[in-house]
Amino acid sequence: MKILVIGNGGREHALVWKLSQDASRPNLYCAPGNAGTAALAENLPIGAEDVPALVAWAKENQPDLVVVGPEAPLCLGITDALEAEGLKVFGPCEAAARLEGSKAFSKDVMEKAGVPTARFRVYTDSATAIDELEDFGFPVVIKADGLAAGKGVVIAQTREEAESAIHDMLDDGRFGAAGAEVVIEEFLEGEEASVFALCDGEHVVLLPPAQDHKRVFDNDEGPNTGGMGAYTSAPIATYEVMRFTKEEIVLPVLRELKSRGIVYKGVLFCGLMIGRKGINVLEFNCRFGDPETEVVVPSIASDLVPILMACADGTLSDDLVSLRTESATTVVMASPGYPGAYAKGAEITGLEAAEAAGCLVFHAGTTLKDGKVVTSGGRVLTVTAFGKDLRDAVARAYEGVNCIHFEGAHYRRDIAAKAFKYL
Ligand code: AMP
Ligand code: GLY
Repeated sequence: MKILVIGNGGREHALVWKLSQDASRPNLYCAPGNAGTAALAENLPIGAEDVPALVAWAKENQPDLVVVGPEAPLCLGITDALEAEGLKVFGPCEAAARLEGSKAFSKDVMEKAGVPTARFRVYTDSATAIDELEDFGFPVVIKADGLAAGKGVVIAQTREEAESAIHDMLDDGRFGAAGAEVVIEEFLEGEEASVFALCDGEHVVLLPPAQDHKRVFDNDEGPNTGGMGAYTSAPIATYEVMRFTKEEIVLPVLRELKSRGIVYKGVLFCGLMIGRKGINVLEFNCRFGDPETEVVVPSIASDLVPILMACADGTLSDDLVSLRTESATTVVMASPGYPGAYAKGAEITGLEAAEAAGCLVFHAGTTLKDGKVVTSGGRVLTVTAFGKDLRDAVARAYEGVNCIHFEGAHYRRDIAAKAFKYL
């Protein structure tokens, strides 16, 4: 069995790690991978967005399955291109990936499917957008339609901030084509949760709910990041929230897409806001979340290959997915300066000690240099631990973090603290 995983972050290391445990003992390839995946897979020197080169490699090497990590290649249609060559892929086709690739499309699907989401309107013209701002109240949320590397959402506290964000996107081309349309929507209050729905076009299996920590500093202060830590299960996502997510969100979306001739296979990441206005969808992503994957995927007890294959084949069922009962926490260690400009090339020590302490250390931004593991990204490592309960998992993850050193490393000290008030 040969499997190609596309991507180079902590998410992909966690997927490669889980696949490496599979009873089928697959030969793993990761494009382009990082120093962590290099220990478990053969890293290929092909970028995750170089669709023609990835397809050429797959055509020649005939993997039994291709697992696509990030959204960019999915939105570029890599699934369609691989399937056209007769290959099997975990990840939605280009038309289905628009649920992440176009916020206007995603909102339209939600509206037609009756999925609760923030009240919104789509604009291409700044004067009209500014004219209608009052309808949403303040704060107001302004979103570039297309992919903007996590930077396309502005929460404007005042009219001035909102106008400036609208001008940036619609008049000054801040995000290029991705910002040629904007979605303006009402601000929702509450707590966020990430729910991953495995989909085979028709059947849906939810994985345990997780919570990300997007701000860089403790107590949700400072600028947004790709995510500074995560834990599962998130108590905010109660049994009723999970039931609602499957029955009233994911299944209606799959049916709505099907009515448009689009089959959704892969994972549908539901970014939920749970609060006074009930359960609302903030966004869909067409892929696993990072760093949520670093807690959710290790929480799967069963083999991953049959699950991913079933998603591709249309044979997904609950009995393929059994879960570990412990809680899991992951803490992201970041480079000095992240999420702004950051240093690279710092040597990382203590990785073995963290593993000896029982942690899974997933590499997010690392590379090998002269046989040493050095930093190469903003988010460098995610340190995952299981525990008998969440407090135990948190304590164990920080034990691992304390073993690891690189110059200027920073991390949040309050991962999962939000959950404690429910426990
Ligand atoms: P998105 O890329 O749509 O997930 O937005 C990124 C982040 O912006 C979300 O994770 C939320 O923290 C925040 N956000 C997006 N939409 C809203 C909204 N309607 N109300 C409040 N916060 C939002
Ligand atoms: N952790 C949020 C994301 O992957 O988009």
